[in-house]
Amino acid sequence: MVLTDTLLDLFIETREHSEALCAPLETEDYVVQPLVDVSPPKWHLGHTTWFFEEFILKPHATGYTVYNEDFAFVFNSYYEAVGKRVIRADRGNLSRPSVKEVYAYRRYVTKALVKFLKSHPNAPVQELLQIGIHHEKQHQELLLSDIKYILGNNPLLPPYKTNFKESSDQNKGPLEWIPMDSGMYSIGHQGNDFCYDNELGRHEVYLGEYMIANRLVTNIEFLEFIKAGGYSNFEYWHAEGWDWVQRNKIQAPLYWHQVQGEWMHYQLSGLTDIDLNAPVTHISYFEAFAYAEFRGFRLPTEFEWEAAQQHLGWGERWEWTGSAYTPYPGFIKAPGALGEYNGKFMVSQQVLRGASIATPSKHSRPSYRNFFHPHLRWQFTGLRLAQ
Ligand code: AVJ
Ligand code: FE
Repeated sequence: MVLTDTLLDLFIETREHSEALCAPLETEDYVVQPLVDVSPPKWHLGHTTWFFEEFILKPHATGYTVYNEDFAFVFNSYYEAVGKRVIRADRGNLSRPSVKEVYAYRRYVTKALVKFLKSHPNAPVQELLQIGIHHEKQHQELLLSDIKYILGNNPLLPPYKTNFKESSDQNKGPLEWIPMDSGMYSIGHQGNDFCYDNELGRHEVYLGEYMIANRLVTNIEFLEFIKAGGYSNFEYWHAEGWDWVQRNKIQAPLYWHQVQGEWMHYQLSGLTDIDLNAPVTHISYFEAFAYAEFRGFRLPTEFEWEAAQQHLGWGERWEWTGSAYTPYPGFIKAPGALGEYNGKFMVSQQVLRGASIATPSKHSRPSYRNFFHPHLRWQFTGLRLAQ
């Protein structure tokens, strides 16, 4: 594969977009880590940069001078093969490198990589470049969710952008059940476009007859679950889910606040009334499951979702599926550190399908497998019913 201008443009566009996402932030917003799962924006900006430096420039660009030898310790996320690193929970304690220096690091690496790629169009780094770009796109989604958590947990509830829309009209209208035939369906990525290793090993799966909802569950529907005492009835919950509800005194989706008896929610535009017909968001797998139980339905499996996807309105929320995150039969782990990218997380997590309003352009596809632990809900998660 030879370097194309399109890939180079995509690289530059992607680098710029991460910075554009941070443009509304104050310096102080870049540094804090209010939850272990939420990384400081500054860390995302550095980590995505380190990824290009570590996996492309260091091994391939002869004569390249590493920006700062200590940055691998600070910006390595979880690659055991690369070496020791600052523990995840301590990312918010890094007052240095400063925001200013992280931006300088970004410029240095972007410039060095562009120079290298232009002078070595045949270097065998195109696949690494693609992974690096898509990796940064993944972090753009995390960046926006993390920014929401940082601002949405500040008692002043500062808006990110007052005109930010967290949903469109796509999900509106009556719920319709789409009937699907039993039979064999092909699952997994097809074609030559980029995908992650966890989507590969396209294979046949037999599905029994089922029905799947054309749209996501809405806020007003979820409000009925709350008002019917859904959070105080153990019958709807897994044992782990029920423990989680009790321990954390969960009463509503994340970011919902009761103001003078009425539910409101923090959105990236600030504290607003609940948009009743918008898809519910910021729910854990436990809540998605409990809601489906309450209605007497269930969550689709990831295979049912993929087989039906062309009939569904999707893309505003990551949809919890009933499927555990495990490797496809033909899964092949890449050699070296990049083999740690997805494979080692294939236990105790749940698959989500679709995409969300935080997903950047050119980063969603029908075979995409997102995954999180069942209690997590700071991403733009939602659910769709099946039966
Ligand atoms: C696919 C979103 C679960 O958050 O660790 C970022 C994405 N992988 N860097 C994660 C990812 C490597 C991943 N998720
Ligand atoms: Fe990463």
